[in-house]
Amino acid sequence: ASNEADTGALAGRHVVITAGPTREAIDPVRYLSNHSSGKMGFALAEAARTLGARVTLIAGPVSLPTPEGITRVDVISAMDMLAAVNAALSTCDIFIGCAAVADYRLLDVAEHKLKKVPGTTSLTLNLTENPDIIATVTASEHAPFTIGFAAETRELARHAHDKLVRKRLDLIVANDVAAPGLGFGADDNAAVLYHLAASGPDDPVMSHTLSPRPKQDLARAILDYMLPLY
Ligand code: CTP
Ligand code: CA
Repeated sequence: ASNEADTGALAGRHVVITAGPTREAIDPVRYLSNHSSGKMGFALAEAARTLGARVTLIAGPVSLPTPEGITRVDVISAMDMLAAVNAALSTCDIFIGCAAVADYRLLDVAEHKLKKVPGTTSLTLNLTENPDIIATVTASEHAPFTIGFAAETRELARHAHDKLVRKRLDLIVANDVAAPGLGFGADDNAAVLYHLAASGPDDPVMSHTLSPRPKQDLARAILDYMLPLY
């Protein structure tokens, strides 16, 4: 593997990857989050490193060891993740947005622990939209080649195509998270990759199906598919 890293297809390239969930504080002891384990993003970091890239892995709260030879930046919230991405962007050649970024955060984070109010049977939290990190990346002046992810429970192709165009991605990796034994938290995953044949929103969509396999193998297959497009 070390020889491959020296002579690899991504030698001299800086790959920036977001991984895992974000946590949005409610009060000092509680947060909103999701089921992302970070495994797919960490597998991509390792695969990019094996191909010779310099890798910056911007990770939300996950319990995974840092792959050898990569730079890891730990973040908690979506706002923290955006700041870390912006700090890495100036030298970034390829950006992979694998994180499950919370779409909303609390409008006001309580300074003290919220107390249960006796007799109150419902509670409303006021949320405000988080920035779309990957859309910020593709809108930046020297936008890198950008790969997004879409985890869907239905209408995979339609939602993936919509995100590909709306976020101006070069490639999107779509997973059916309703498939048993695959996706969130699992060691295996399958995916359908979508990209535009040319670069306009009305150009034909190309798709490529990757059958279920360990996330490490899927990560390598995604990068191998990307190389001739990049
Ligand atoms: N993403 C991001 N910042 C956000 C939300 C999403 O960078 N605030 C990125 C994800 O990392 C992923 C892609 O956008 O690469 C798609 O995420 P997804 O949650 O599927 O997209 P949304 O536009 O938030 O759509 P949905 O309503 O399905 O959640
Ligand atoms: Ca979302």
